Amino acid sequence: MSAIKEITAEQLNPQEFIKEKAEEISRVVGSGMAINALSGGVDSSAVTMLGHKALGERLKTYFIDNGIMREGEPQQIASIFKKLGVNVEIVNAQDEFFSALKGIVDPEEKREAITQTFYKKVFGKLVRENQSKFLLQGTILTDVDETVAGIKRQHNVFEQLGIDPQQAFGYKIIEPLVQLRKDGVRKVAEASGLPSSIYNRMPFPGPALAARVIGEVTSEKIAIVRKATIIVEEELVSTKAFQYLAILHQDRVTGMRQGKRDFGMQIEIRCWDSIDARQARPTRLGFDALDKLASRITSEVPGVVSVTYNISTKPPSTMEAI
Ligand code: XMP
Repeated sequence: MSAIKEITAEQLNPQEFIKEKAEEISRVVGSGMAINALSGGVDSSAVTMLGHKALGERLKTYFIDNGIMREGEPQQIASIFKKLGVNVEIVNAQDEFFSALKGIVDPEEKREAITQTFYKKVFGKLVRENQSKFLLQGTILTDVDETVAGIKRQHNVFEQLGIDPQQAFGYKIIEPLVQLRKDGVRKVAEASGLPSSIYNRMPFPGPALAARVIGEVTSEKIAIVRKATIIVEEELVSTKAFQYLAILHQDRVTGMRQGKRDFGMQIEIRCWDSIDARQARPTRLGFDALDKLASRITSEVPGVVSVTYNISTKPPSTMEAI
């Protein structure tokens, strides 16, 4: 495993970085084809722009609709990129992901199921169809650090774990952002012409809403956490916090509705102040904001009778729940 040389946001010259990385991608891919998966996060968006600069039409960009993204996300992201001249094909892979997640409750096993479905099943097929040998992806240094430290297996880290993607999945992975952290990637994204809705986008985990369902992930549970997420994002956008999210708990609690017992679901809200996600504190939200969140979630999300707010720091908490 060779050490990765970090480029800090202060050291980074984004224009030079873009030029160098585009040349490198061109050199590695040669006259062949490459594919990449866009999720709309700042990392995969920056890689998409770099790849298109380097390869033009020889890079095929896909949005994998895995069924665990937020409301309307595939269409929104494809339309932002269309305006930038980048064609994004949405691939419906919902059944593959839900069947891979069926019956799994352990967090790391969920990540592994998502990883295998993405890389082996979905990308494997796309790579074969396109006769391409390369997958371009937006792994950043923090992903590598957390995975190597054994904190959380980020779904996109392989070589640093001794896994050869060529052997495991049948294609090579190119990672042009691996020397950067989030703040550096935001600079590159801005310099490559992406709108601020992308380069200032709140982080969102690779395992998407599956990282926010405790216990088995089903399409019904995803629908609930997705509804709660819309409310949390609407209500907390004005805080400008680093990240805010809703988690669906596995345990039910006794509630009451229309004078009757309702053994219902619990949603936990987290809202984090952080610089780089390595450490974080809960945002000191006012009680009126919390009140509004609780009232909207219990009235708008069917079956939820309890809403809580996380007050512990990272560490020992992590930002996501699984
Ligand atoms: P944690 O939960 O480790 O999260 O404190 C730190 C930051 O990373 C994001 N995160 C992930 N991103 N795959 C990802 O791509 C993952 O498995 C994953 N887990 C957490 C999280 O949203 C936060 O911004």
